[in-house]
Amino acid sequence: MIFGPLTLLAACFMRVVSAGPWPSIPLQQPYSSPTGAAYLYPTSIANTLTDAYINGSAGDPIVFTTVGQTYTLDYGRDVAGYPVFEVAVVEGYAQIEVKYSEAYNGLLESQGDGPFAFANGLAGTFRVETFNLTHTGNVSSYFIQGSQRWQSITLIKGSYLKLSSVGFKSSVEQTPLDSWGGYFASSNTTYTDIWALGPYTQQLVCFAPGTQTSTWEITENGAYIRGQKPATTAQVVNLKNYTLSFETMVEYGGTGWRVDTEIDAIQATGPIFVLTSEYPDGSFANIDQSLVPPNTLVVGRGWSLQNQTSLPGYILDKFPVLFNVTEKVWHTIKTTSPGDNTYTVLLDDLEIAHFNISSYGVGDPNPYIPGGTYKSFAFGPWQDQAAYVRNANVVLSTGETVYSNPMTSDDVLVEYGVQTNEMYTCSDSGKRDRFSWLGDRLISARAVMAGTGDARFVWGPAEEAFSRQVSSGQIPINTLFSPLDTKGTLIRTTNLDPLLVDYNFDFMQVIFNYWMSSGNNTFLQYYWPKMVSATSYAISRSLDLDTQLYGALSAPQNVPLGSEKGQALGPASTISLILGLERMAIMASYLKDNGTANAYRKQAELSRIAIDTLLWNSTDRYYASSVGITGYDVMDIAQVLLGEVGTVERRAQFLEKLASLKVAAGYINGTRYEDTPRVVNPYYMSFLLEGLAKFGETELAQDLLDRTWSPMVRKDRNYTGAYWEYVSIDGVYPGLDIFTGQSHFWGSYPTVFLTDYVLGIRALKPAFNEFLFAPLPGFRTEWVHGRVPTPSGSIYAAWGYNSDGKVVLEINAPDGLVCVFVPPFNGSFSYGKEVGVTQNATIISKNSTITIVED
Ligand SMILES: *[C@@H]1O[C@H](CO)[C@@H](O)[C@H](O)[C@H]1NC(C)=O
Ligand SMILES: *[C@@H]1O[C@H](CO)[C@@H](O)[C@H](O)[C@H]1NC(C)=O
Ligand SMILES: *[C@@H]1O[C@H](CO)[C@@H](O)[C@H](O)[C@H]1NC(C)=O
Ligand SMILES: *[C@@H]1O[C@H](CO)[C@@H](O)[C@H](O)[C@H]1NC(C)=O
Ligand SMILES: *[C@@H]1O[C@H](CO)[C@@H](O)[C@H](O)[C@H]1NC(C)=O
Ligand SMILES: *[C@@H]1O[C@H](CO)[C@@H](O)[C@H](O)[C@H]1NC(C)=O
Ligand SMILES: *[C@@H]1O[C@H](CO)[C@@H](O)[C@H](O)[C@H]1NC(C)=O
Ligand SMILES: *[C@@H]1O[C@H](CO)[C@@H](O)[C@H](O)[C@H]1NC(C)=O
Ligand SMILES: *[C@@H]1O[C@H](CO)[C@@H](O)[C@H](O)[C@H]1NC(C)=O
Ligand SMILES: *[C@@H]1O[C@H](CO)[C@@H](O)[C@H](O)[C@H]1NC(C)=O
Ligand SMILES: *[C@@H]1O[C@H](CO)[C@@H](O)[C@H](O)[C@H]1NC(C)=O
Ligand SMILES: *[C@@H]1O[C@H](CO)[C@@H](O)[C@H](O)[C@H]1NC(C)=O
Repeated sequence: MIFGPLTLLAACFMRVVSAGPWPSIPLQQPYSSPTGAAYLYPTSIANTLTDAYINGSAGDPIVFTTVGQTYTLDYGRDVAGYPVFEVAVVEGYAQIEVKYSEAYNGLLESQGDGPFAFANGLAGTFRVETFNLTHTGNVSSYFIQGSQRWQSITLIKGSYLKLSSVGFKSSVEQTPLDSWGGYFASSNTTYTDIWALGPYTQQLVCFAPGTQTSTWEITENGAYIRGQKPATTAQVVNLKNYTLSFETMVEYGGTGWRVDTEIDAIQATGPIFVLTSEYPDGSFANIDQSLVPPNTLVVGRGWSLQNQTSLPGYILDKFPVLFNVTEKVWHTIKTTSPGDNTYTVLLDDLEIAHFNISSYGVGDPNPYIPGGTYKSFAFGPWQDQAAYVRNANVVLSTGETVYSNPMTSDDVLVEYGVQTNEMYTCSDSGKRDRFSWLGDRLISARAVMAGTGDARFVWGPAEEAFSRQVSSGQIPINTLFSPLDTKGTLIRTTNLDPLLVDYNFDFMQVIFNYWMSSGNNTFLQYYWPKMVSATSYAISRSLDLDTQLYGALSAPQNVPLGSEKGQALGPASTISLILGLERMAIMASYLKDNGTANAYRKQAELSRIAIDTLLWNSTDRYYASSVGITGYDVMDIAQVLLGEVGTVERRAQFLEKLASLKVAAGYINGTRYEDTPRVVNPYYMSFLLEGLAKFGETELAQDLLDRTWSPMVRKDRNYTGAYWEYVSIDGVYPGLDIFTGQSHFWGSYPTVFLTDYVLGIRALKPAFNEFLFAPLPGFRTEWVHGRVPTPSGSIYAAWGYNSDGKVVLEINAPDGLVCVFVPPFNGSFSYGKEVGVTQNATIISKNSTITIVED
C-alpha cells in the first residue's frame, strides 16, 4: 500500500523507545517524488579501463584527446535510465562508443554484457551504443538501458572532446531507503544489506505507467526504428507461400527484418535479415566490418547475429550486393517465403539472395520447448543502425493481399508490442529478462509487500495479467509491457500454451498473499471470476486424472508421459497445484463461493494423497521426482517442506537427503539433472529457505541464507545492490557470468524471510488484523529490528539479548491489530503486568511499545 501524507504525519508523532540492545526503530520518512527528471551520476570515473574504484574524481570533466582513449564510470550500484552526455567542447565532430554492464567483466567484451535480444522489453537490446557528437550541449540516448553499474566510453573518432558530465536520466523511481514502508536491520550488517536487496531490486524492475517508453517512433515517413530486437506483428500469423514487401530508408548503417519467426516466445528460429548500407564517409568508425560488411545482406538465425550465453545466434550467410546501398533514399525490399524453407530477397526488384535455411544445419526449433506456435514477420535493424519502414504488404502466392500497413499511424506501436507501458508492471530483470513473468512473482510480490509495501506493484501486474486473459481462461505466463490490441493479446497469450502452466497456481498464491497482507477485498471480489476461470484452465491443462498429479498435457510438444522427455509428474509442480487450490479454497470460502471452495479442497486433498502414495520411496525414504523414476531434486524437497506434504516423519526423512545436494553457494538439483549447467538458483533456494523456516530448521535456514545470498552483498566489482538471478556453485560470481540478471527479482525471498521469520511478523488474518510475532528460535545474531507495513500503519518489532543473555523483545502494533506471540525459546516470559507466562500470548499493544523478557 502507499502511505498518504496523513498516515505519515500520524506516524511521525509516535515515539519508539528501545528497551533492548538495538537502536530505536526509525520511522518512515516522508518523500515526494521529484516533479522533473532525476539524474544519476557516477561515483567514480577513471581515465582508463579499470575496476579500481577511484573515488573523489566523479566531478571531473572527461577529456578525450586520442582515438582509443577509454574512461570507466562506476555508479557504485545498478542504475537504470537514458544515458545522457553533456558536451562541453567538441572539435569538428566526434564519435564515442559506450558500453554498459552490470558486472565489471562485461566492459571487457566487445558487446558489453549483451546483446539481450530475448524480449522487446522497452529498452535497448544492445549493450554497446555509438554516439555521433556534433555540437555542444546535452545528448541523450533514445533507449533506456535497463540496468548497469558500469559504463565505459571510448573515443573512436575525433581529435578533442570534453564532456562536462555523463550520467543517466532515471527511468525508475528513486525513493530512498528511509522512506520505504518496510524496514529491517540487524547487528550483523550482512543481514541488513541482504534485506535491502529487495526494495532496491524492486526499484530497478517495477515500472509505473508511462515510464518505459516506446522503442519505435512513428513519423509521416513511416516507423523510424533504431537498432534493436526486431519487433513482431501478430496481425497475420503462420503464413505460407507469400511475399512480404516494404519500403525502407536507411538513416545510417542499415536496415533489418525477420520473417517466419516466433512471436515474443522463448524461441527465435526464423531468418534474420540485416541489409547494410555503403557506409558513406562519417559512418560510425567502430562498425564491425567482418560481421556486417558494407553493401551486404547478412542472414542469420536464432536470437541475434551474436551469441550471448543461452541466447544463441548464428550467421548463416553473407550476400554481397553488387551495387551501392545508398542511405537516406527509399528502397523496396521483397522477401518471398514459399513455405519450403527457401527464401528469396529482392532489393529494388533485383534478386540479392536465394537460400534454403535448413541447408545450414543450425538453429532449428527445439522440439522440447513448448509454445511458440505462432510465427510472423518483424522489423528491427542491427546495432548502431537506424531506418524508416513504410508500406508493408503481404501478398499470398494466390495474389491475395492479407496485410497492408503504411506504418504511419500510432496503432503500429501497439500492434508490434513496442508502445510505452500504460499499467503498473514488474519485469523479471532490469536487463535481459524484460518480460513480465507470472509465476516468478510468487516470491517477489511478497518481497514488494515486506520491502517497500508499495502494493501498486502487486495488484498492478496482476491487473495486467488479467487484462490479457483469453476466453479459455488462459493468462499469459509471460507478457510484454507494451499495451496490446485484441488480436495481439489473443495470439501472444495462446502462443505460450502449455509452457509453465503451474505458474497459474503460483499466481493464485500471489493474490492470496497480497490479500493477506492488504485485506483488499475489493480486488478479490472484482477478479474472482477471472481467478476461477484461470484456475480451471490450468487444471484442465495440467492435471493427470489417472494419477491426480501435475503433468498431463504439460509435456513439451505432447511427448508421452513417463518418457524421458516428458515433464515430471513430481512433487514440485503438484505442490504448486495443491497450494494454489488450497489458497483458492480459502478465498472462495471468504466469498461464500462454497461450491468452488469444496471442489478445490477436494482436488488438493486427492493430489496430496497421490504424492504420498505414488511417489514415496519407502526403501530409500524420499519422494521421487516422477512416477516410475528414481531420484529427486532440490525443488521436490523444498516444496514438500513448504506444502507440508506427508507426515512430519517422512518430511524429516526426505530432508536428510538435502545434505547430499550441498555446494558452497547452497544446493543444486539432484540426480536427474546432472547434464544441465550447474548453478545455484536463488529462485529455488527461496522455496527451500521458506520450507526450512516452516519446518523449524533454523540452522539450515540461516546457513542457506548465508551461502546463497551473502555473495550478493559482497562489495566487490560484481556488486549491484540488487538480487542476482544465479550464483556460481562456489559462490564466487554471478552464476551465468555476464549473462546473469543482477537486478533479478525472482529469488528475493530473503527480504520476506528476514521480516517474516527472523523479525517474526506474519499475517494470520487479512490486513494483519491478527498476526504472529514468532521469531525463528536460535537465529544467530545479537539483535534485529524492523517495521512491517500494514493497512492500519506500521508494526514495529525487535528482539535481541540483554546483558543476562536472556531474549528480550518488543512489539508495537497499531490500534486494532491483535498480536499472537510465540516465544522463540522454551520456558516462561514476562511482559507488562503478566509474569511467568508459559503459553503463547495474545498481546494488544494499541500503539504503545510492549517489552517482553525471557524469565
Ligand atoms: C554476520 O553474518 C555473516 C553471515 O552469516 C557471518 O559470516 C559473519 O561472521 C557475521 N558477522 C558477525 C559480526 O557476526
Ligand atoms: C559506392 O560507395 C562508395 C563508398 O561510399 C563510393 O566510394 C563509390 O563511389 C560508390 N559507387 C557508386 C557507383 O556510387
Ligand atoms: C556524424 O556527424 C557528421 C557531421 O555532422 C556527419 O557527417 C556524419 O554523417 C554523422 N554520422 C552518423 C553516423 O550519423
Ligand atoms: C554461437 O555459438 C554456437 C555454438 O557454440 C556456434 O555454433 C555459433 O557459430 C555461434 N554464433 C556466432 C555468431 O558466433
Ligand atoms: C507456392 O505457390 C505457388 C503458386 O501458387 C506454387 O506454384 C508453389 O508450388 C507453392 N509453393 C509451395 C512450397 O507450396
Ligand atoms: C485494491 O486493489 C485495487 C486494484 O484492483 C486498487 O485500485 C486499490 O487501490 C486497492 N486498494 C487498496 C486499499 O490498496
Ligand atoms: C457456505 O458455507 C458457509 C460456511 O461453511 C455457510 O455458512 C453458508 O451457509 C454456505 N452457503 C451456501 C449457499 O451453502
Ligand atoms: C527407491 O530408490 C532406490 C534408490 O534411488 C532405487 O534403487 C529403487 O529402485 C527405488 N524403489 C522404487 C520402488 O522405485
Ligand atoms: C532443476 O530442476 C528443475 C525441476 O525441478 C528443472 O526444471 C530445472 O531445469 C533444473 N535446473 C538445473 C539447472 O538443473
Ligand atoms: C566477479 O565475477 C567474475 C565473473 O564475471 C569472476 O571471475 C570474479 O571472480 C568475481 N569476483 C570478483 C571479486 O571479481
Ligand atoms: C494509533 O495510531 C493511529 C495512527 O497511527 C491513530 O489513528 C490511532 O488513533 C492511534 N490509537 C491509539 C489508541 O492511540
Ligand atoms: C503456539 O503457537 C505455535 C504457532 O502457531 C503453535 O505451533 C504452538 O502449538 C502454540 N503453543 C501453544 C502452547 O499453544
